[in-house]
Amino acid sequence: MHFLNLGSHRLKLALPQSRDIYTDSSIICSNNTACSFCDSHPYTKGDLESAMAMRSLLSDHSHYVESFRLFLENSTEHQCMLEFIQKNLPDIISSIGNGKSTINVLSVGGGSGEIDLQILAKVQAKYPGAVIHNDVIEPSAEQIMHYQERVAKTSSLENIKFTWHKETSLEYEGRMKASKEMKKWNFIHMIQMLYYVKDIPATIKFFHSLLEPGAKLLIILVSGTSGWAKLWKKYGPHLPLNDLCLYVSSADIQEILHEAGLRYKSYELPSHMDITDCFTEGNKNGELLLDFLTETCNFSKTAPLDLKNEIVEDLKKPEYSEKKSGKYLFNNNLSAIVIES
Ligand SMILES: C[S@@+](CC[C@H](N)C(=O)[O-])C[C@H]1O[C@@H](n2cnc3c(N)ncnc32)[C@H](O)[C@@H]1O
Repeated sequence: MHFLNLGSHRLKLALPQSRDIYTDSSIICSNNTACSFCDSHPYTKGDLESAMAMRSLLSDHSHYVESFRLFLENSTEHQCMLEFIQKNLPDIISSIGNGKSTINVLSVGGGSGEIDLQILAKVQAKYPGAVIHNDVIEPSAEQIMHYQERVAKTSSLENIKFTWHKETSLEYEGRMKASKEMKKWNFIHMIQMLYYVKDIPATIKFFHSLLEPGAKLLIILVSGTSGWAKLWKKYGPHLPLNDLCLYVSSADIQEILHEAGLRYKSYELPSHMDITDCFTEGNKNGELLLDFLTETCNFSKTAPLDLKNEIVEDLKKPEYSEKKSGKYLFNNNLSAIVIES
């Protein structure tokens, strides 16, 4: 992949569309300063300046959490994951704990634990009597607090020991390598979090190396067929990407897995998000959903008008959304990728 760095911004390069070249020397390709893309990239000075004026949603954590919660309320994101957990997970975990009295589960970016507890219920059901150690890597103190509250009010978790690590996956990796401890796991999952790591191939490689024989690594993220993948491909270069968030889909992950020679199976999880409010000017929920879609803080107020109009018009199109009973349902399909040890 090729990126442009501009100040703190890291812009993903698309194929050149015009010869209108911006040759400011502050632009460097992080791959190679003599990269051929850099001589003919498609961004004008105006594009780059507006990408700088807009701020990444990740730079304001509570704004991010507010728009993420609204996204969950307006989408079938968690429902489609629950369906997958109900239907497919029991088979997937059938090899992870045979004959073991302790099963170690590692949740990377576990958020507030809603999905994690459903996964644990399936592990409990599959291995009655086993003790489960569930460790959670989660950098947000707010999310950990919600997770702990959820655990406190959930019954039937007696045989599960929870440990929270308030850190990023990279910090965990550094800590493990420094301690030379390298605890191994029977099941590791990374659900909707790989967008936020700096080096995805290295992260997958590290966590894969922590799998016990027969263990599985589950990755869930947006599908290559989703509206997200199309939106990011077309508009990613015009949005305030920075080091905090990468626009990746299951198609990118599958490429990484092929290159690494890892064996995996992938499942498509159909899902949608009701974005009808995005089309009512000034609607607060619509504005927050647009922030989530573009990963931009206050997108409606900070984006150049032509970019905003173009995105809003595109979102209504069938490549992105289906119109049903007067509502616009954005394609939020996910992929679940299960990697063998
Ligand atoms: C979109 S949420 C998904 C939460 C949960 N897995 C779910 O599906 O509901 C992403 C989570 O990853 C966490 N996160 C962000 N960067 C991370 C990193 N570098 N390492 C581990 N977790 C990270 C965030 O704090 C957030 O809780």
